[in-house]
Amino acid sequence: MKRLEGKSAIITGAARGIGLAFAKAYAAEGARVAIADINMKAAREAAESLGSGAIAVKMDVTDQASIDAAVAEVEHSFGGIDILINNAALFTAAPVTDITRADYDRVFAVNVAGTLFTMQTVAKGMIARGKGGKIINMASQAGRRGESLVAVYCASKAAVISLSQSAGLNLIEHGINVNAIAPGVVDGEHWDGVDALFAKYEGKAPGQKKKEAGEAVPFGRMGRAEDLTGMAIFLATPEADYIVAQTYNVDGGNWMS
Ligand SMILES: NC(=O)c1ccc[n+]([C@@H]2O[C@H](COP(=O)([O-])OP(=O)(O)OC[C@H]3O[C@@H](n4cnc5c(N)ncnc54)[C@H](O)[C@@H]3O)[C@@H](O)[C@H]2O)c1
Repeated sequence: MKRLEGKSAIITGAARGIGLAFAKAYAAEGARVAIADINMKAAREAAESLGSGAIAVKMDVTDQASIDAAVAEVEHSFGGIDILINNAALFTAAPVTDITRADYDRVFAVNVAGTLFTMQTVAKGMIARGKGGKIINMASQAGRRGESLVAVYCASKAAVISLSQSAGLNLIEHGINVNAIAPGVVDGEHWDGVDALFAKYEGKAPGQKKKEAGEAVPFGRMGRAEDLTGMAIFLATPEADYIVAQTYNVDGGNWMS
């Protein structure tokens, strides 16, 4: 028996990286998956590669009309949404004296407002349907502790952890479990961007920050997107019904909390 048979899921930012790994893992467990992303070309290719009824939907999590339209489309296609993974996010880094309002607004619009209002929109549908649901928000080890050059992203991920706590407490009365996953350092295109920013601000050679980050993980290497799929599946199953408002570190031992 597949663990997500008969379930339908929407995963934001699933056109690549960790979100795409979640989409593949959910499809393999029998879920119908909607890949919601601003990058429609990559989202379509991803949905086609998945098969098993996967669809691509255009969604910009910074735009309420776009969230409304995408969620309505998925509810219509699948007959309702059982699982939401709020995965879309942007990274930024700069010394505090170089942070711009534009960068702050851009990152908070996606990582914080995007998470909150996508969660709100999907939760309304889940409540109306009366079958409960599972919401998983992507936090980060960056949300556990500030980092010298990463003030804005760290603050945005601390906000995701806090939102997951409050929403978790608020929505459990409707049978909706809200929890979060805090990855450590996960290799992929996202980290290529991180590496480039550290090369700029710390004068490191390209690839050096990535190498150091991997070597510092107690497990002995950077994470792979596939390292996170077990937790994302588990939190979406009935076995996780009694888990409410938590954030789980899946980071090879980087962080303990
Ligand atoms: N990679 C890591 O090391 C790491 C570590 C900790 C936490 N995380 C978190 O895990 C999640 C996935 O990370 P990733 O490495 O796969 O990132 P990624 O940058 O590879 O993918 C992000 C996806 O989000 C989409 N996206 C961006 N803005 C959007 C918007 N406004 N609306 C809809 N989609 C949008 C992008 O098109 C892209 O497909 C993020 O929440 C990230 O903060 C990643």
